[in-house]
Amino acid sequence: MQIEVVQHPLVKHILTRLRDASTEPAQFRALARQLTLLLAVEATRDLPVREHTVQTPLEPTKGHSLAQPIVAVPILRAGLGMLEAITELFTEVRVGYIGLERDEVTAVARAYYCKLPPIGESRVLLLDPMLATGGSAAQAVEVLVNAGARDIVHICVVAAPEGVRLLNERFPQVRIVAASLDRGLNDRKFILPGLGDFGDRLYGTGAR
Ligand code: PRP
Ligand code: URA
Repeated sequence: MQIEVVQHPLVKHILTRLRDASTEPAQFRALARQLTLLLAVEATRDLPVREHTVQTPLEPTKGHSLAQPIVAVPILRAGLGMLEAITELFTEVRVGYIGLERDEVTAVARAYYCKLPPIGESRVLLLDPMLATGGSAAQAVEVLVNAGARDIVHICVVAAPEGVRLLNERFPQVRIVAASLDRGLNDRKFILPGLGDFGDRLYGTGAR
C-alpha cells in the first residue's frame, strides 16, 4: 500500500484531539487547520525551488523561491476545513472546488459542483480529510486528470486501507499524505476508529 503517514509528535497530538468525541466545532476547526499546516509541509517537501540572490540588510546572499505553482482543490464540504492552512502557507495558490456528497445508504459519492482554475504544470493539493471507500477521492482525481493535472498529492487526515487500495490501483501516480492509516470501515462505510463525520464535526451539523 502506497501512503505516507506523517510521523511527528504534534501530528499525533492534534489528531488525538480531533478524534476525541468531546471536541466541539470551534476547537475542531482550529485543530483541522493546524494539522493541515503540518501535512502540507510533508506534501510539498519535494517542490522544486529556483535559486536567486536576495539582499539582506547587511549583504547579498543566496535565496530560493518556489518554482512550481500550487493549485489547492478542497472536496466540499469537509475539505474546506483544510483550505485556510494552505492559502496561508502558499499565498500565490489558485483554488478550485469539487463538490461531492456520499449517499447516506450506499456511500456512493454524487458530484454536485466543480470549478477549477487552469492547472498546467502545477502541484495539485487535493484536500479531503477522510479517505474511506476512496470513491470520492477517485472521482475527484479523475476530474483533475481530465483537466490536465499531472502532479497530484492527496492530503487527508485519516485514511482507511480500502480507500488507499482503490486510489493506488486506479491512480498509482497520486501520492497520499495522511496523519493516520486506520483499521478499516464499518458497515456504514465509516472509518474505524476514525473521528466520525468530519463535515458534521467541523460545522456542528451532526445529531446532538
Ligand atoms: C465525506 C468526506 C469525503 C468522503 C469520504 O464527505 O469528507 O469526501 O465522505 O468517503 P469515501 O472515501 O467513502 O468516498 P461527505 O460525503 O460526508 O460530504 P460532506 O463533506 O459534505 O459532509
Ligand atoms: N466521511 C466521514 O466524514 N467520516 C468517515 O468516517 C467516512 C466518511
